[in-house]
Amino acid sequence: MLKELVTGCRSYRRFYEDTPIPYEELVDMIDTARLTGCTANCQPLKFKILHTKEECASMFPNLTWAGALKDWDGPEEGERPSAYIVVLCDLRIAKNKQWDEGIASQTIMLSATEKGYGGCMIGSCRRSDILTLLGLSPEEFSVSLVLALGKPKEEVHLVPLGKEGNTAYYRDENQVHYVPKRSLEDILL
Ligand SMILES: Cc1cc2nc3c(=O)[nH]c(=O)nc-3n(C[C@H](O)[C@H](O)[C@H](O)COP(=O)(O)O)c2cc1C
Repeated sequence: MLKELVTGCRSYRRFYEDTPIPYEELVDMIDTARLTGCTANCQPLKFKILHTKEECASMFPNLTWAGALKDWDGPEEGERPSAYIVVLCDLRIAKNKQWDEGIASQTIMLSATEKGYGGCMIGSCRRSDILTLLGLSPEEFSVSLVLALGKPKEEVHLVPLGKEGNTAYYRDENQVHYVPKRSLEDILL
């Protein structure tokens, strides 16, 4: 069951932009992440939901999509995320948060998958511009990750790594997205 959920929890980058995620469902994803373990139980992470059309439009220019797809600049209008959850660290509580943000973010992505949505973690983003957009001080907050969310409009398949060992994801002529994963034998020491 968990393995199925994880298998379905792929990085999606094209969405039915007009399909919203109800605000309460976004809040519930964060409430699930709230229950995860974290370093010394400090709980420094804070979360900001952006879900109106205006909020989503203001976040989009701050994000970099699919670095491995050189001929694609990211989702076009109509295929963009219908919500974002910005994962932030409250620096007044703790600065040592790199494991916490990964655990919380993956928990949110799994929760989104369970609810029938999908998305993409975005680490490549304009952090200081995002803090300005959110009206937050860099002395008090750092941006960990932006979680782009929506109703996926694309097919993503896991495939074994080719003989050449290239891990770069790619798309075919129908825009089906393929993600090479190392085999179990390759990672078991
Ligand atoms: C911490 C983290 C940061 C990521 N940052 C970006 C990003 O900035 N832009 C993007 O398009 N994808 C980003 N991704 C998505 C990865 O490219 C994706 O996980 C990888 O290609 C494997 O695909 P999969 O998630 O379907 O297994 C990020 C993923 C993680 C876990």
